[in-house]
Amino acid sequence: SIWIVDFGSQYTQLITRKFRELGFTSEIMTLEDALEKLKGEEPKALVLSGGPQSVFEDTTDYSPFFSRPKLPILGICYGMQILGQYFGGKVEKGVQGEYGLAKLRTVPGFNVPGMPAESDVWMSHSDHVSVLPKDFKLIFQSENGLTAGIKHELLPILGLQFHPEVHHTVHGKDVLGYFLNEVAKLKTDWSSKTMLETSLEEVKAIKGSKVLCAFSGGVDSLVAATLTQRVIGDDLHCFFVDHGLLRPQDIHHIKLLQEKTSLKIEIIDATDMFLNALHGHKDPESKRKIIGKTFIDVFEKKVHEYEKSHNVKFDYLLQGTLYPDVIESISPHKKGGKSVTIKSHHNVGGLPERMHLKLLEPLRFLFKDEVRAMGLELGLQHEWVYRHPFPGPGIGVRVLGELHKDSIRKVQESDQILFEELKSHKLYDSTWQAFTVLLPVKTVGVKGDGRVYEEVIAVRMVNSQDGMTASLTEVPWSFLNRVSSRICNEVKGITRVVYDCTSKPPGTIEWE
Ligand code: XMP
Repeated sequence: SIWIVDFGSQYTQLITRKFRELGFTSEIMTLEDALEKLKGEEPKALVLSGGPQSVFEDTTDYSPFFSRPKLPILGICYGMQILGQYFGGKVEKGVQGEYGLAKLRTVPGFNVPGMPAESDVWMSHSDHVSVLPKDFKLIFQSENGLTAGIKHELLPILGLQFHPEVHHTVHGKDVLGYFLNEVAKLKTDWSSKTMLETSLEEVKAIKGSKVLCAFSGGVDSLVAATLTQRVIGDDLHCFFVDHGLLRPQDIHHIKLLQEKTSLKIEIIDATDMFLNALHGHKDPESKRKIIGKTFIDVFEKKVHEYEKSHNVKFDYLLQGTLYPDVIESISPHKKGGKSVTIKSHHNVGGLPERMHLKLLEPLRFLFKDEVRAMGLELGLQHEWVYRHPFPGPGIGVRVLGELHKDSIRKVQESDQILFEELKSHKLYDSTWQAFTVLLPVKTVGVKGDGRVYEEVIAVRMVNSQDGMTASLTEVPWSFLNRVSSRICNEVKGITRVVYDCTSKPPGTIEWE
């Protein structure tokens, strides 16, 4: 297959995903693994990903890659700087980087099918190739006149300073398709048709086992559970942990699923345990870790009780793990190497080992949109499958700083207003995610005839394809006006509403 060498870019997995959309399979691996594997195998093509490091500190010998004249190579961002330097070009430290959306110009005389002379691309770099390497020609330039793409005159090698794998690069797929079809001249080998069958096969293989699911009601766990139940029926049992950091719509959703599906879902109310454990903690990472640990404690205790009272023993833990999570755990990110952990995301990390459970992850080769398509195929309602993502720690990371019952209430009530207005303005489905955040600042306002000194709610609405990058959703002023006015009038303790207009990067989607 195609090998993607991961230098720790936040976007590496998207390369695999875009390749799949184009009909090609690929594997992500570390630099060390690629160099080792190369001793006995030949990849069809090689991609060198972006990464946070700088070629000035990189002492790796890349000749095993570049000394194979037939091997098609695509260098993206850092990967382009590596090949630029290797082939005798000059990489320069940037004074001012290029981050976020930028305009790309195609050099006259060069042509990628489907791509206009000028288009929007996603950039995230400060170093750049300032002198072209030998035998390379310039194919793309950024609006600042910097080198944004190079191509070898004789060898199948392409370098891109921008990220073609990111959704915001409008013609990114055209560029990747150009590399695969015209530079590397490869034949397609992936089709999504067999997706559901492959996942069902995986569950069939463990038929007869007892399966446990930490159910969140989100798309991934719902699809994973529905799929599993279709094969093993009542041998699947779902537990839903209510940590008290849910929105009204989440409770409603779980009750609805209990009623409308044949899944066995048991709700565990553990609000007090979570709030006690979180007491006095302000730091986002500490809060995330405490929520994760408490989740495991509560879950484990409940499952043991259940096993005892029902005289069963669970064999498997079902997880709605998706491909991006799998890649993250095999990439250097986790090994303390190249890239940095931005946030600790997983609630159930460490659970299977602790409870001596085997893992069942029938969605682990899929991306979010593929899981949604599968959900519809399984007959789940559109509304359930297209729910906005909601983070495991819930409102825990939407009240900035320390959590109190009253601050949780402010987020619950304001979020409910936003949700109702999104639905009634028919805007819910046109945004990836929308939510409210309580800011720990007080501002002066006037209510009735009196002066008040109360807190602020931020409304965040973003468009995204995968949560990896995001841009703000443009909404009508009248909508914002309505939301703001309802929140200030109906949520006690709030006098001001602001709209967050930050992309990711540099902001993350959640505030903590
Ligand atoms: P960030 O804030 O990292 O979020 O830009 C990207 C996407 O992930 C969601 N998110 C989480 N999901 N557990 C989750 O299951 C978490 O701890 C968590 N933190 C963030 C976030 O809502 C967005 O969709």
